[in-house]
Amino acid sequence: MLFSTLTTIFLFCVTLPLIHPTITAASTTLGNKTDFVTLLQIKKSISSDPYGILVSWNTSNHFCSWGGVTCGIKHQRVVMLNLKEYHLSGTISPYIGNLSFLRILNLLSNKFYGEIPRELGRLFRLRKLNLSNNNLTGEFPISLTNCSKLRYLNFSANSFHGKIPIEVGSLKKLEKLSLFKNNFGGKIPPSIGNISSLNVFSIAVNNLEGKLPGEFGQLKKLSMLVILSNRFSGMLPSSFCNMTSLAFFSAAENQFHGSLPAGMFSALSNLQMFEIGMNQISGPIPTSIANASLLQKFDIGFNNFVGQVPSVEKLQHLTWLNLNYNNLGSGSDGDLDFITSLVNCTKLENLVLGSNKLGGILPISIGNLSTQLIEISLFVNHIHGTIPETIGNNINLISLYLGDNHFSGNVPNSFGKFHKMQSLDVGQNHLLGEIPPYLGNLTQLVEISIANNIIALACSMESPNDRMNIKDVIRELNLSRSAFLHG
Ligand SMILES: *[C@@H]1O[C@H](CO)[C@@H](O)[C@H](O)[C@H]1NC(C)=O
Ligand SMILES: *[C@@H]1O[C@H](CO)[C@@H](O)[C@H](O)[C@H]1NC(C)=O
Ligand SMILES: *[C@@H]1O[C@H](CO)[C@@H](O)[C@H](O)[C@H]1NC(C)=O
Ligand SMILES: *[C@@H]1O[C@H](CO)[C@@H](O)[C@H](O)[C@H]1NC(C)=O
Ligand SMILES: *[C@@H]1O[C@H](CO)[C@@H](O)[C@H](O)[C@H]1NC(C)=O
Ligand SMILES: *[C@@H]1O[C@H](CO)[C@@H](O)[C@H](O)[C@H]1NC(C)=O
Ligand SMILES: *[C@@H]1O[C@H](CO)[C@@H](O)[C@H](O)[C@H]1NC(C)=O
Ligand SMILES: *[C@@H]1O[C@H](CO)[C@@H](O)[C@H](O)[C@H]1NC(C)=O
Ligand SMILES: *[C@@H]1O[C@H](CO)[C@@H](O)[C@H](O)[C@H]1NC(C)=O
Ligand SMILES: *[C@@H]1O[C@H](CO)[C@@H](O)[C@H](O)[C@H]1NC(C)=O
Ligand SMILES: *[C@@H]1O[C@H](CO)[C@@H](O)[C@H](O)[C@H]1NC(C)=O
Ligand SMILES: *[C@@H]1O[C@H](CO)[C@@H](O)[C@H](O)[C@H]1NC(C)=O
Repeated sequence: MLFSTLTTIFLFCVTLPLIHPTITAASTTLGNKTDFVTLLQIKKSISSDPYGILVSWNTSNHFCSWGGVTCGIKHQRVVMLNLKEYHLSGTISPYIGNLSFLRILNLLSNKFYGEIPRELGRLFRLRKLNLSNNNLTGEFPISLTNCSKLRYLNFSANSFHGKIPIEVGSLKKLEKLSLFKNNFGGKIPPSIGNISSLNVFSIAVNNLEGKLPGEFGQLKKLSMLVILSNRFSGMLPSSFCNMTSLAFFSAAENQFHGSLPAGMFSALSNLQMFEIGMNQISGPIPTSIANASLLQKFDIGFNNFVGQVPSVEKLQHLTWLNLNYNNLGSGSDGDLDFITSLVNCTKLENLVLGSNKLGGILPISIGNLSTQLIEISLFVNHIHGTIPETIGNNINLISLYLGDNHFSGNVPNSFGKFHKMQSLDVGQNHLLGEIPPYLGNLTQLVEISIANNIIALACSMESPNDRMNIKDVIRELNLSRSAFLHG
């Protein structure tokens, strides 16, 4: 801070016309010699320039008109260097620390390698730094935490390693921090809670571990928190309920355990996406989910959730409900009553409930769900009774997985309405009768399983346990149909 202030005063003085009229005159005509020299040094460390963007970086024209260079009008100093997507290969020259008026540095999507020079930390005016999608290595440069005006920092898709430094907490103006897809390890420093402007934080696909610091709760402006695919453990801190702006939360593929804070979803009233699949989270789905009225995607698949699925009738924006591979339900009547509460979720596309302990019967309200529905997945549960005829109202279904339950009775005639169906599984049930000829209506089928039922067709198959290729099925169906017609 002190450093920044002193430097500001210093630079202010040297550029004051009354104090140094000659220097100012030179700056307006030629710009700053240092910037000129620096840019040439930067060019020197770039070995490959397939698009020739740096051809213009020569003495025949002013450096302020060089490709990717933008100068401030008044002082003719470089304020922005934007060399994104030019497939440049080389290192970032330490000379870059001399572009002391630089506010934006965008090297997105090139092939820069090596470490970020420490000298970058001298650019105290820097507001945006985008180095994403390069081949940079080394650690997060601590010197960069001196750039206290940074608002945007994107290091994603590189090969950085080491820890996120505690000093990152001093970047108080930071709004977006993306370290996605690197090899960062260690824990998230609690000082993150000091970055009160933080709006987007992504550290997905790294090797971070340990608990999430409770200090996250201090981040009142955080709307996007993406930590998927790391090695985080412990419980989600109850202070999470204080992140009231949170809209997108993705923490899938970690080792979180424990249960979710009960009132979580009432507190997070802006939540649109909640993804915690592939962890070891247990306990019930908090009933407060009913209050997350902006929720679009709710994915808690591959965890250890237990108990009844709560009503969700107010979730009018819900498109994706994935509760796959948990221990939900009691195996008895009433487990699927919540399906009736889904009738007001008119945007629902995927209803995914496979591999749980859901029992009872499938309510006829399964036919009153969203017209957008493309997937119903109920495989490996304890559902009994008949498949309601109303299920055929879901004429846009692409996938229907009812396999490995206790369904009995006939395959409903209404299946003939599934003109878009690609995957159909009713195998491993107690269905009886014959495969009805109208299944020929399902012209888009690529996968069907009807094995292990008491369906007539099953007898004519060589290996009834196999999921068959559609060509075989259609052949079988045709056989079956002709058997109907002629028999
Ligand atoms: C050019 O910039 C450097 C570094 O900021 C500074 O030390 C020097 O005085 C400037 N020169 C002119 C001519 O403005
Ligand atoms: C210098 O830059 C100008 C402007 O882009 C370009 O036309 C010219 O060919 C360049 N000169 C050399 C020697 O590369
Ligand atoms: C610019 O940066 C380099 C390397 O960091 C340094 O050696 C040099 O003294 C700096 N100053 C000028 C005016 O080039
Ligand atoms: C890269 O950084 C610039 C700021 O320098 C930012 O405006 C832009 O959105 C970023 N691009 C991507 C794809 O992240
Ligand atoms: C960071 O850059 C990547 C592109 O490499 C982009 O996908 C991502 O959205 C950027 N993050 C932010 C916060 O802008
Ligand atoms: C990145 O660097 C590694 C070695 O450091 C190299 O093997 C790899 O080809 C580079 N990738 C690209 C896209 O340049
Ligand atoms: C930050 O700036 C101060 C003042 O110039 C300096 O003493 C310190 O070494 C810098 N910190 C880092 C990590 O570069
Ligand atoms: C947050 O900032 C305050 C004041 O600058 C400081 O006292 C505290 O140690 C910081 N907290 C963390 C966790 O870094
Ligand atoms: C949430 O914030 C309130 C004040 O805004 C504070 O009193 C409370 O301790 C915080 N809760 C957690 C769990 O951090
Ligand atoms: C929904 O929020 C209201 C108001 O905060 C609260 O009274 C109610 O208990 C919440 N409902 C559930 C199911 O948590
Ligand atoms: C659906 O919404 C209507 C109107 O908001 C309400 O009267 C009805 O009870 C809701 N249905 C269910 C099943 O929640
Ligand atoms: C099969 O599709 C045709 C229209 O292509 C339709 O008229 C017929 O009712 C369908 N069959 C059944 C059993 O739904």
